[in-house]
Amino acid sequence: MPGFELWSDKERQEVNEVLETGILMRYGFDALRKGRWKSKELETAICKTFGAAHAQLVSSGTAAVTTALTALGIGFGDEVILPSFTFVASFEALISVGAVPVFVDVDDTLTMEPDAVRKAITPKTKALMPVHMCGSMADLDALLAICKEHNLLLLEDACQSIGGSYKGKMLGTIGDAGTFSFDFVKIITCAEGGVVMTNNKDVQLHADGYSDHGHDHEGVDRGSDLHPFIGYNFRISELHAAVGLAQVRRLPEFLSIQRKNHSALKQILSQIPEISFRRIPDPSGDSCTFLSWFLPTLEITKAVVEELKAQGVLAGNFYWYDNNWHYIRKWEHLKKGTTLNALHPDLKAAVIHHANKDFSASDAVMSRCLSTAISLLWTEEQMKEKGEKLVSIIKKILSQQSVSF
Ligand SMILES: Cc1ncc(COP(=O)(O)O)c(C=O)c1O
Repeated sequence: MPGFELWSDKERQEVNEVLETGILMRYGFDALRKGRWKSKELETAICKTFGAAHAQLVSSGTAAVTTALTALGIGFGDEVILPSFTFVASFEALISVGAVPVFVDVDDTLTMEPDAVRKAITPKTKALMPVHMCGSMADLDALLAICKEHNLLLLEDACQSIGGSYKGKMLGTIGDAGTFSFDFVKIITCAEGGVVMTNNKDVQLHADGYSDHGHDHEGVDRGSDLHPFIGYNFRISELHAAVGLAQVRRLPEFLSIQRKNHSALKQILSQIPEISFRRIPDPSGDSCTFLSWFLPTLEITKAVVEELKAQGVLAGNFYWYDNNWHYIRKWEHLKKGTTLNALHPDLKAAVIHHANKDFSASDAVMSRCLSTAISLLWTEEQMKEKGEKLVSIIKKILSQQSVSF
C-alpha cells in the first residue's frame, strides 16, 4: 500500500506552504494563516474525488473508525458484526466505545460471508462493519440487503482500499459512514491521518464536533464554542493534511501503476493451474494494492512460505494465517480480554465469548491464502523476475507434494 513509495516535490511544496505560515493547527488563527487551510482543502478534495457529501479528517484510521462509530451513535452493549480477517484497530475502536465486536467468518472474497452475518444477528446488533481488506471489497449488495431487512447501520472500514469502487461507487461512500486510513503504508498517506466520510449531515456534524472535544465550531472564536455533546481530540494537523493533499491528487497515477503491475503479476501466476485467485465482487473496482491467491492445501501453502523464506524472497508476500496483526487466530490478548484498565464485566465477557468462537471456515480460507503486495516502483524486469521466482518456488513445492483435490 504504497503512497510513500512515490514521495515527491509536490508533497514538499504543500508542507512548505504550511511551514511558511507557521500555523500548524487546522482550526483558528485566521489572520495569521495567509488563507492556507490544508485540512479543509483536503476534505473538499476527498469529497470531490470519492463522491462523498461530507468528509471529516482525523488523526488516524483508528480515530476515524472510533469517530464514525460514535457519530453513528454506537456505544455500550451494541453488537457490531465484523470479519475475522481485519486489523486489530477494528476491534480496538469497537471496544473503546463500549461496543461488542461480533466476529464472523470470511469467505474467498477475504471479507465477511453474508450467511455468517445473518446467523450472527441478535436483537442487540446495531451495525455491520465490513472491512474492505487488501484493496478489494466486500459483497456490498448482500450486506446492504441484510441491513435493510434488519434495520442495521453499515460502516465501511475502507482503510486499506482507498480508490477501490463497487458498482460505480467509491468504497467508503456506500454505507452510512466509511473510513480511510492515511498512515504511512496506505495507498495514499499523510504520514498519520484518517477520514470519516458520510452522506448524512447529522453524522458529519457529530464527527466534526466529536473529533475536536465536542466544540460546535459555531463560536466567533474557539473559546466561545458551545458543546452539544462530550467529545474527544482526534484532530489532524495542517502538516499531515498538506502531505495528504498532494497525495490525493496523485491517486489516479498510483492506481494506474498498481493496476498495471497487479495484472502483469496475475498473468504470470495464472500459468499454475493449482493457483486460484481471490474472488472480487466487482473486479473493475479492485484498487489492486495486493494480489491475493490461494494454494490447494494448508500443507502446500506452509511449504511454499517456508521455501520463500529459505530463498530470501518472502518479503512482500503475506501469509495472514500466521500473522499476529490481521487474523483472529493469533489475537491471544483479545481472546483473553487483556486490557490495561477495567472493562465493564459484561463487555469483557462478551468480548471473550465472541473472540473464542469457531472460525474453522475462516481457517479453511486463510490457511491457503497468500497476498503479494504490489509495488509502484517495480520495473517490468523486476516484476517479471519476482513473478517467475514465485512460480518456480510454487512449482517446486507442488512437485514434491502429492496433490489431491
Ligand atoms: C482495516 C484497517 N482498519 C483500520 C486501520 C487503522 O488505521 P491507522 O493505522 O491509520 O490507525 C488499519 C491500519 O492498518 C486497517 O488496516
